[in-house]
Amino acid sequence: MTDRRSFLRGALAAGVGGVAAASVSGAAASEASARPLRGFHGAHQAGIEEAPLPRTTVVSFDVIARNRAELTDLMRTITDRARVLTAGGVPDGAGISGPPTDSGMLGPEVPGGNLLVTVGVGASLFDGRFGLAARRPDRLTAMPTFPNDALDPAWCHGDLSLQLSARDEDTVLHALRDIARHTRGAAQIRWRMDGFVSPPRPSGTPRNLLGFRDGTANPAPADLGKLVWTPDGGSFLVVRLIRMLVEFWDRIGISEQEQLIGRARDSGAPLDGDREFDEPKFAADPIGKVIPLTSHIRLANPRTPQTAGNRILRRGFNYDRGVDAAGDLDLGLIFTCYQRDIPSQFEAVQHRLKDEPLVDYIRPFGGGYFLVLPGVRDAKDYLGRALLS
Ligand code: HEM
Repeated sequence: MTDRRSFLRGALAAGVGGVAAASVSGAAASEASARPLRGFHGAHQAGIEEAPLPRTTVVSFDVIARNRAELTDLMRTITDRARVLTAGGVPDGAGISGPPTDSGMLGPEVPGGNLLVTVGVGASLFDGRFGLAARRPDRLTAMPTFPNDALDPAWCHGDLSLQLSARDEDTVLHALRDIARHTRGAAQIRWRMDGFVSPPRPSGTPRNLLGFRDGTANPAPADLGKLVWTPDGGSFLVVRLIRMLVEFWDRIGISEQEQLIGRARDSGAPLDGDREFDEPKFAADPIGKVIPLTSHIRLANPRTPQTAGNRILRRGFNYDRGVDAAGDLDLGLIFTCYQRDIPSQFEAVQHRLKDEPLVDYIRPFGGGYFLVLPGVRDAKDYLGRALLS
């Protein structure tokens, strides 16, 4: 471990303060102005209820720590680094011959209030290695394979999840590089997908790479207590890495695209409405004349009393991995969602969507299930304390 006293002092000074959180709404990345993001400490981790920022990386780690004590050190180190990186400050210099303690990517002073860090644990952390088997929450399993999935094991699961979000790509990469450096020998990266959220075009919720606004219908802030947070302040995270077969998509007409989704492409309005936030009225259209029964939004959320408890908080990020071996564009969606319980929320929704016509244009190939740990309360607390002590 490098000496991190002065960088840490900056963290203690700045990390606890009540900087304003960006709004909860699925609103536009660019509306998350230059004001400081929320501080590191709190009942919940950051990066869930805030409006998505323009740049995010989702990273999964394998833990290679050999025992519970080393795992605890790892979680303390991740906590310290997250606290320091979110607070900002001047990193310690190194001795004349030692390597610099900071990559320098963000210049001599790391700006504070610019980063959100969200850490989770996967079911595999509760195997025999750390004596945690009896502590695995029963509802946390490995992500199963769903019909129409084409999962690549190299892009699935992991002992830890780390999500880093910021306005700028360099801030995300600086934080990832710092955390990877400080955790070397205890954790190694298993997979990583970088994502972006576009500016609103021309307004409203940002669009995904199919051209549709994505994130419109999400639970209201007042519903997060019952739908998203576990009793101790954590949440369950589902990550699905979903390629979009854009070459096929771009060959179908706009009205077919809109029937597949159930919304107008340009305005984002449901097909029975005029404006993005109009509520679809499925009950008035029982045979699906206007919004097909098989459309994505109708299957995902039929808006019945029986399905109200299945709702999830979705946070989508576009990804671009370049070009595949066949010369096709490798684009897609990092679908993430948060919920209090995966089987009765994400899995219920996924089950309804399993044979939706949209499956011809998308290919899920990776992801995982994670328990996002409760927030870090203060300078003495650390991620996973309740689990490990
Ligand atoms: C590449 C894959 C996907 C694409 C392109 C996509 C696209 C969309 C679009 C355009 C909307 C309408 C706008 C909005 O309310 O955000 C939507 C809504 C929604 N999607 Fe997806 N989605 C994808 C995957 C998924 C998955 C995997 C799930 C969950 C299993 C899901 C669940 C939902 C839900 C719950 C809604 C809101 C429905 C409502 O309340 O009206 N989506 N999606």
